[in-house]
Amino acid sequence: MIEVSGLSKLYGPRAAISNLEFKVEAGEIVGFLGPNGAGKSTTMKILTGFMPASSGIARVAGHDVFDEPVAVKRNVGYLPEVPPVYPEMVVEDYLSYAARLHEVPKNRIKGAVDRAIERTGLTQVRKRIIGNLSKGFQQRVGLSQALVHEPKVLILDEPTVGLDPVQIIEIRELIKGLAGHHTVILSSHILPEVTATCQRIIVINKGQIVAQDSIERLTTRMRQGLLFHLDVKDPNSAGIEAIRGVPGVKQVDLEGNRLLVELQPDGAGQRDRIVEAAVVSKMGVMEFAAEKLSLEEVFLQLTTQEGNS
Ligand SMILES: Nc1ncnc2c1ncn2[C@@H]1O[C@H](COP(=O)(O)OP(=O)(O)OP(=O)(O)O)[C@@H](O)[C@H]1O
Ligand SMILES: [Mg+2]
Repeated sequence: MIEVSGLSKLYGPRAAISNLEFKVEAGEIVGFLGPNGAGKSTTMKILTGFMPASSGIARVAGHDVFDEPVAVKRNVGYLPEVPPVYPEMVVEDYLSYAARLHEVPKNRIKGAVDRAIERTGLTQVRKRIIGNLSKGFQQRVGLSQALVHEPKVLILDEPTVGLDPVQIIEIRELIKGLAGHHTVILSSHILPEVTATCQRIIVINKGQIVAQDSIERLTTRMRQGLLFHLDVKDPNSAGIEAIRGVPGVKQVDLEGNRLLVELQPDGAGQRDRIVEAAVVSKMGVMEFAAEKLSLEEVFLQLTTQEGNS
């Protein structure tokens, strides 16, 4: 549904993004995660046909963003960083206007607006002037205009920014509900945001993709198989000492009934000796598995590596 290859954007001599490569399949919800200035908004502006790239290819819903920007816009709903709302307009009038701009046929505009209002929880404020609404409700209006023409692809630049915790949950639920019917890319520099809503994340830092994977695989991979947990019925000091003595074991910590075993980079081959030591000392092994990093740690690790800070 979205295909990006060798995509770069220069602002003057500076590259905001360089050589991006990624794909998003139909129906997927992908999170674009990166710190401030990483190039998230730049990439999104290019994907929506809002701004041209300096080089490379981007195809959205089968159309090249450069050669067929009109076809792309027809298939894309875009929520920019700053919601593109007209403060002096009434919510429902603004949404009909957005529907017309997106070429919704005249006889379907009313229905499309009603549906967008309902989906984004704007029913109580549909007759109010946008400029008088709270920031969170203005953000919903922005989301509503992105949805009103039922686009195949939704590109949402920080969709929950400025919302209160209750609204954040509601908007996340709304976005999750779009999976399958719509293809969604959303950006965030907040980690819980992407874990809560996305199936896959693309981590971008200083204009480059530093990782892209499912959240599950990314967190496992990041540990490089070096941290394991061993759950036992009866943790005893003899057993812990025995495990500490296994070559390749760097550190062993006890947390309740869980031993956290950190291996040296060459220690992965010693896993059976660790379990053996636990069995010999009769600790009652219940589970032995690779420990997962939280995405927070992954993110820090990916975006603060040397020369990258
Ligand atoms: N119009 C512009 N002219 C010059 N430089 C720009 C322009 N827009 C963005 N940049 C630069 O390009 C880089 C990427 O910016 P971008 O807005 O894409 O980052 P972002 O990941 O969306 O960040 P944020 O989380 O702060 O929104 C930054 O270094 C930014 O300063
Ligand atoms: Mg941005």
